[in-house]
Amino acid sequence: MCAVPVDGNMAVMIKKIGVIGSGQMGNGIAHVVALAGFNVVLNDVSLDRLKSAMATINGNLSRQVAKKIITEDARKQALDRISSADSIDELADCDLVIESAVEKEEVKRKIFHDICAVLKPEAIIASNTSSISITRLAASTDRPERFIGIHFMNPVPVMELVELIRGIATDDATFDAAKEFVTRLGKQIAVSEDFPAFIVNRILLPMINEAIYTLYEGVGNVEAIDKAMKLGAHHPMGPLELADFIGLDTCLSIMQVLHEGLADSKYRPCPLLVKYVEAGWLGRKTHRGFYDYRGDKPVPTR
Ligand code: 3HC
Repeated sequence: MCAVPVDGNMAVMIKKIGVIGSGQMGNGIAHVVALAGFNVVLNDVSLDRLKSAMATINGNLSRQVAKKIITEDARKQALDRISSADSIDELADCDLVIESAVEKEEVKRKIFHDICAVLKPEAIIASNTSSISITRLAASTDRPERFIGIHFMNPVPVMELVELIRGIATDDATFDAAKEFVTRLGKQIAVSEDFPAFIVNRILLPMINEAIYTLYEGVGNVEAIDKAMKLGAHHPMGPLELADFIGLDTCLSIMQVLHEGLADSKYRPCPLLVKYVEAGWLGRKTHRGFYDYRGDKPVPTR
C-alpha cells in the first residue's frame, strides 16, 4: 500500500487501481499491478475486448509459471485480483487510475473528462502516454496537481523500466506516491522532464523511423535491416520487427508528436510508415506490418 498525503495531513492509501484500456500495454499493466498485490479494475469499451485481455493476461502469467518466475498460486491470486468493467463508473472507488488508451489526444481527453466526473477528489490520475505532453493532458482534468505520467515499456511483464513524468503542476505528494507505487511493482524508474516522447521514445523512435527510411530508400530489405541491427548492434529485436511489435500506428503518432512538438525536420515520419498505417497494416496486432504474421512464421512484406 502506498500512502499519499492530502493537504499535508490526511493520507490516501493506494489499494485499488483502475486501468483504462485493455490493449497490449493496458493488459500488461493490469498483469504486473495485480501480481504486486493490488486490486485492479480493468476497463475497456466492450466485454469482448476485456475477455480477450483476460485471456492474454492468463497466458502471460502461465508463461511465467512455466518459467518458474512465479508460482501457480501467485498466478491464481493475481487473476482473482483483476475485475473487468465495461463502464468507467466502476472505477469510482479507485485510488489511482492509469489511462492506457490509444495514443490519440482527443480520446484521452474524453476519458479524463468522464473519469473526473466519477472519481473521488483525492484519487490520482496517471497516463501511460508514449509521447503526449503530461502538462497538457493534466490541464484537461479537474486535478492537474494529482496527475502524472507513468510510462511502461512493452512487454510490461518483462521490461524493467518505467518512466515517471511530472507535469508542470504535479505536486510532490503525487510524485512520491507514484515512485513508491512503481517500486512496489519491482520496476526501475527513470525520471523524465515533460518534453515530447520523454526519454526512451525520443531516442528509440527516430532510430526506428530511420530504419524505415533505410527500407524506403532501398538501402536494405526488411530482412537485411533487422539482421544488421540484431547481429551488428546486439539489439534483441531488429528495428522493423520492433516497430511491428509496438504497433505502426503508435510509432507514427510518436513521430508526429516529435515532429510537431520540436519543429525539426529530422523527426519527419517516413512516408512508408504513413503508407503502412493507411493500409491498416499496423504490425502484429493486425497480423501484417513489415512482416506478415498470418502463416506459421513471420514473412517480410518487402
Ligand atoms: N509476459 C510475460 N513474459 C513474457 C512476455 C509477456 N508478454 N513476453 C515475453 N516474455 C518472457 C518470456 O517468457 C521469456 O522469459 P525468460 O527470459 O525467463 O525465458 C522472456 O520474456 C524472453 O522472451 P522470449 O524468449 O519469448 O523472446 P525473446 O528472448 O526474443 O525476448 C523480448 C522477447 C523480451 C520482447 C525481447 O525481444 C526484447 O527485449 N525486445 C525489445 C523490446 C523493447 O525494446 N521494448 C520497448 C519498446 S518501446 C515501448 O514499449 C514504449 C512504448 O511507449 C512504445
